[in-house]
Amino acid sequence: TQQQYIRNFSIIAHIDHGKSTLADRIMEMTETVDERERTDQLLDSMSVERAHGVTVKSRTVRNYYTADDGHRYELNFIDTPGHVDFSYEVSKSLAASEGAILLVDAAQGVQAQTVANFRLAKANGLTVLPVLNKIDSPNADPDRVERQVRALDPSMETAKIMRISAKTGEGVSEVLAAIIRQIPAPQGSRDQPLKALVFDSQYDTYKGVIAYLRLFDGHLETGRTLRLMANSTNFVSDEIGTFAPSMQACEQLEAGDVGYVVTGLKDPTQVRVGDTLTLDSQPTQRALPGYAPAQPMVYAGIFPKSGDSKELAAAMAKLVLNDSSLTCESEQSDVLGSGFRCGFLGAFHLQIIRERLHDEFGIDVLTTAPNVPYRVHLRGAKAGQVVEVDRPTTFPDYSEIDYVEEPFARVDISMPGSALNDVMKLAEQSKGTLVDLGDDDQLLLASYHMPVSEIAYDFFNKLKSVSHGYATMNVTMEDFEPADVVKVEIYINYARVDALSFVLHREDAPRVAQELVHKLKYAVPRRLYPMPTQAVVEGRALARVDIPPLRKNAAVNGEKRSTSKKQALLRRQSANKRAAAQSDIELPQSVFNAILEAE
Ligand code: GTP
Repeated sequence: TQQQYIRNFSIIAHIDHGKSTLADRIMEMTETVDERERTDQLLDSMSVERAHGVTVKSRTVRNYYTADDGHRYELNFIDTPGHVDFSYEVSKSLAASEGAILLVDAAQGVQAQTVANFRLAKANGLTVLPVLNKIDSPNADPDRVERQVRALDPSMETAKIMRISAKTGEGVSEVLAAIIRQIPAPQGSRDQPLKALVFDSQYDTYKGVIAYLRLFDGHLETGRTLRLMANSTNFVSDEIGTFAPSMQACEQLEAGDVGYVVTGLKDPTQVRVGDTLTLDSQPTQRALPGYAPAQPMVYAGIFPKSGDSKELAAAMAKLVLNDSSLTCESEQSDVLGSGFRCGFLGAFHLQIIRERLHDEFGIDVLTTAPNVPYRVHLRGAKAGQVVEVDRPTTFPDYSEIDYVEEPFARVDISMPGSALNDVMKLAEQSKGTLVDLGDDDQLLLASYHMPVSEIAYDFFNKLKSVSHGYATMNVTMEDFEPADVVKVEIYINYARVDALSFVLHREDAPRVAQELVHKLKYAVPRRLYPMPTQAVVEGRALARVDIPPLRKNAAVNGEKRSTSKKQALLRRQSANKRAAAQSDIELPQSVFNAILEAE
């Protein structure tokens, strides 16, 4: 296809505003999928996506559409995920497009992520087409929502705002026409040296790494030596192709096209998302800007529940490739054996990875309580040194610490006015400082400055619950700031259990320590002898319980015995007490969940 007949675009929206439904509708109305191949939601194919009903990973599809002018246009669209944890994926798809459809639910209206994604698209210089969806819904109030969209930005004041129902198909052909009329065709030149953005990648057991490309300049055929510019990795590809919507091999990709290249590389780390692909014999002068690498918000240990850490290693390597926002290093634990320390965009991301390990690789894992990264400034002999700590086990001893910094984020929350009081209360409990409060046509937007540790695990669910489902949020990472945090160590039967250590704000330590030891009383598998369990901060035990022994209860087992016999039995049982070696304590997932719940 000649460049002037190509349009590359993304669909951006708040979660559940209908991106996948619109994508399906577009595919149906263009020459992409025939009726037989259709399943309910073609695009959300990963099984976790079906299970949660949300899009996790961006997808790319090529469609052909014959417009009113009689020309056949190639429409490449990239569907983007909408959950709070996944805005990183959104920015990747935007870098590969010239335009974006901003889809807004005509009933729910503009939400925190609508605003965030709109700003991201603008910052990437994209043409934004505003579209109100779900106008068939009885709760739709398109006039009100249109006013909210117009208030986003001066460019929206005069924009044409389309009204559609992705469900019934009403108005969708207008969207197709607007894409062709308003989104610019790609600009690059076919005659320049090859310059392509790797905007995503995937691992195939037989083919190795498959890189998703957006060609900005030049052209690409099979059989040529290609170069990934970041590490000067060379390879010869024997397959290139497009997404239609499944991968379809083709002869050639040209400037403006979106497609894939089978690299044949078996080491997932050699292909970095954001890298520039060029020709080895005729390289482009300058690499594309790429992306800032994703910054993990939470870290957690992942360990195989049973047996083989090799299988887990292979699976993690593939997931890291498939999901460039996931980071992963090996970790050794006294109790849990060898596993990985992984960085995630948030708690939901962690849950998705657990489920993908189960669904796609058949591996069940144990995950430790997540933590945020800390910057620890040392004193004494090591004064002036700063250590980056991504796990509680390497958190320095308190005697060595000058001060600690933790990451903060800006949290933008949108909500109806009726939820404001409860949301403010929650944000204050979560150590948030209000920095901005705006009110635009029944859309309340409150912005908070908050420690990431307070929002990374459960804040989103709490927010949903205090606002009866109406509040939505968007998180933007900000800088590290000093924080008064301490490490809590758990001792079971006088032995420290490393895997159970965690870091939290000093003021919360006494309460959490109490709650936790009481939860551990029921979560740690019992032994024949009682096990004292303590939560220790800076050498001082803040809380203690005894995990009761596993035994026939001599006192109440119904048999008639004399008191002295009962006492003799109890004495014998307590004589069985033995100090447990640290490594033979068994830790089921419920133990780590207890830490999370207490926090
Ligand atoms: P994520 O992928 O999770 O970000 O969601 P999404 O934006 O892709 O939303 P999705 O297409 O999955 O739609 C969310 C819900 O809205 C589904 O239950 C759809 O059936 C429904 N929906 C989508 N479009 C319309 C519409 O035009 N009218 C009505 N009434 N419902 C719609």
